[in-house]
Amino acid sequence: MPAIAYVNGKFSPIADAVVSVEDRGFQLGDGIYEVLRTHGGRLHATPEHMRRLFRSLDAIKLKHPFTAAGLEKIILEAVKRAGFGDSLVYLQITRGATKRTKEFPKGIEPTLVITVRELQLPAPALRERGVAIMTADDIRWQRCDIKTVCLLPNVLASNKAIAAGCFEALFVEKDGTVNECASANIFIVASGVVATPALGTRLLGGITREEVIALARKNNVPMEERRVTLDELLAADEVFLTGTTAEILPVVKVNDRHIATGKPGPVTKRLHDLYRASIA
Ligand code: PDD
Repeated sequence: MPAIAYVNGKFSPIADAVVSVEDRGFQLGDGIYEVLRTHGGRLHATPEHMRRLFRSLDAIKLKHPFTAAGLEKIILEAVKRAGFGDSLVYLQITRGATKRTKEFPKGIEPTLVITVRELQLPAPALRERGVAIMTADDIRWQRCDIKTVCLLPNVLASNKAIAAGCFEALFVEKDGTVNECASANIFIVASGVVATPALGTRLLGGITREEVIALARKNNVPMEERRVTLDELLAADEVFLTGTTAEILPVVKVNDRHIATGKPGPVTKRLHDLYRASIA
């Protein structure tokens, strides 16, 4: 089965899918996206992803005719056509294709692109041993809570991290405030208390982040959403990151520093076990 694409009403193999050279997503980064996954044929956390999608559309004032039910129907059809065991669903909506102008264009339809690929989870060895991450100055714009396709700072930071043999880049403010990774949220565990940076305009409200917070609270694991500093993170007992494809992944090294013993910790493992059980 090939990976499947859907572009403005038409399904095709990904290799045959095209958008206009004048698409505003391509020329201006004028669009938003979502990444969902399936467990088997079942979409995970659809209402949460849809809520974030519509919040992103509203935040960039993108007028559109889409409904959550309508989008879900198309996604499920694409997932069915692709036929993978577990799928990674990418959905992007841009302000459409027209002559390049900064002004919002009138009288054009948004571009809807959905792709479905086979889901690649991190290798089991990474989960068992934990990953290394690398800090990066947070040079992003002030609305990181919107899931926009303008990801150049994330691309550059990720590549610097990968070149250094790291799994992820961790965005940190000049004053030492930790925000999030280039494609994931970040958590620390210190003296049995789990903490993650509070929501705001400097980080994306991850769906997995919300799931982990809810699981911790439900299972009486002390949980705080607040400012987290890099010093605190380096001194933590455990660090882990969360994301749709990463799930809950232990971080054992930050730059040249090991976190605690340099091995994944029990709270991270427990939360991941709870996460897996909640899906099953
Ligand atoms: N990334 N923060 C950033 C900057 C992200 O890009 C992501 C997700 C997350 C985690 O969000 P969630 O738990 O909803 O996946 C946090 C997706 C997977 C991506 O860009 O590929």
